Amino acid sequence: MKICIIGLGYVGLPLAHAFSSKYTVVGFDINEERIAELQRGYDRTFELSIAQLQEARENGMRFCTNLADIAQCNIFIITVPTPIDKSNKPDLTPLIKASQSVGKVLKKEDIVIYESTVYPGVTEEVCVVELERVSGLKFNVDFFCGYSPERINPGDKNHTVTNILKITSGSTPQIADKVDALYASIILAGTHKASSIKVAEAAKVIENTQRDVNIALINELALIFRTMNIDTHDVLQAAATKWNFIKLKPGLVGGHCIGVDPYYLTYKAEELGYRANLILGARQINNGMAKFVADRVIRLMIQKDMKIKNAQVLILGLSFKENCPDIRNTKVIDIITELQTYGCVLSVYDPVVDSDEAMREYGLKLENNPNINAYDAVVLAVGHDAFLDLHVSPSQKLVVYDVKGVLSQYDERL
Ligand SMILES: NC(=O)c1ccc[n+]([C@@H]2O[C@H](COP(=O)([O-])OP(=O)(O)OC[C@H]3O[C@@H](n4cnc5c(N)ncnc54)[C@H](O)[C@@H]3O)[C@@H](O)[C@H]2O)c1
Repeated sequence: MKICIIGLGYVGLPLAHAFSSKYTVVGFDINEERIAELQRGYDRTFELSIAQLQEARENGMRFCTNLADIAQCNIFIITVPTPIDKSNKPDLTPLIKASQSVGKVLKKEDIVIYESTVYPGVTEEVCVVELERVSGLKFNVDFFCGYSPERINPGDKNHTVTNILKITSGSTPQIADKVDALYASIILAGTHKASSIKVAEAAKVIENTQRDVNIALINELALIFRTMNIDTHDVLQAAATKWNFIKLKPGLVGGHCIGVDPYYLTYKAEELGYRANLILGARQINNGMAKFVADRVIRLMIQKDMKIKNAQVLILGLSFKENCPDIRNTKVIDIITELQTYGCVLSVYDPVVDSDEAMREYGLKLENNPNINAYDAVVLAVGHDAFLDLHVSPSQKLVVYDVKGVLSQYDERL
């Protein structure tokens, strides 16, 4: 078997590395800069270490941007992004384009496996249509499909691709067995063969939807407890002593999984005539948390008789989650823009994030070792390990707001 991984991001690269221990693997991406970096042995997502990339290359893994270089492969695994547009509608363009690329090199007996998170039906109703149209081959006669969603958690070095149980599925019972055996050969935690591609698609999208809804409940509780002047973290610590209480913390829900995937499900539900009020309500609560934080910071500053216009505010952390350099769809930006509307002057420090990317994506110049005492307010927005030993103490001249509940001293935490 010759495996081609299409889309070498947070999901595709670790997967390619895992397969390279047993199979001939080619990694394909349309981003030439990314391919050049990988060829040099550098992974900007930090999902693979230099040694792991080296290991993959020693195993014969190659990286390319040219379709001719993947034409010999017979298993194509697609791990491209599945974003939403400005009105929260699924944007299937990368999936469609990747399917068209594969369609150009597809041969009889090939299997195309999708890993990107989608709503039930995308593989067979959208992607297969492109594969058939471009290749001129017939689905489930000439070529076959599978769907195996990814569950990795970027920045988490314990839950990595081979030690997370993987859902598999195939377009026929025989192909389902084949896809399952393929993954079982590299996934140490084992596999679960779903009864159909749609079931596997649905399982993935509800995992993140469930998490989003549960976090929204905790966020709503945080909003309620603030009106009661009760510390939410203390309440959660007490409640979590019950064996079946789900342990979550309030916070921002950014990134391109938990804050995005539910919209895939609600979009399809709505298309079929069902409005998913609970899921959409949860999305609304989670999307509103950044504004809530900004408003609380302003309130605390006013309580300390501080002038708001031109106040210097330092934000600690820009990425969408701790110890991860990914800044796409980070909700920290919403805190920044909200505070700017009050006339505050914002500075951002994040030692995990690539400063060029922060400039490119958001026009933000990241600080380098800022002096905390030079600010009127400090907002800890991301719980990077690098911030855990930070000595910051609130005073009449300094407001400290802790979004993540990790600081020992603060004026308020979410
Ligand atoms: N990042 C996560 O934590 C995570 C976890 C589980 C599932 N997922 C899902 O996996 C999918 C991929 O996510 P990601 O975080 O790896 O995305 P990513 O943006 O990190 O990487 C995607 C890669 O695909 C490339 N690409 C885009 N269009 C392409 C095309 N037409 N042909 C070839 N390459 C193309 C991009 O250049 C990029 O390098 C998404 O559906 C996501 O929801 C992500």
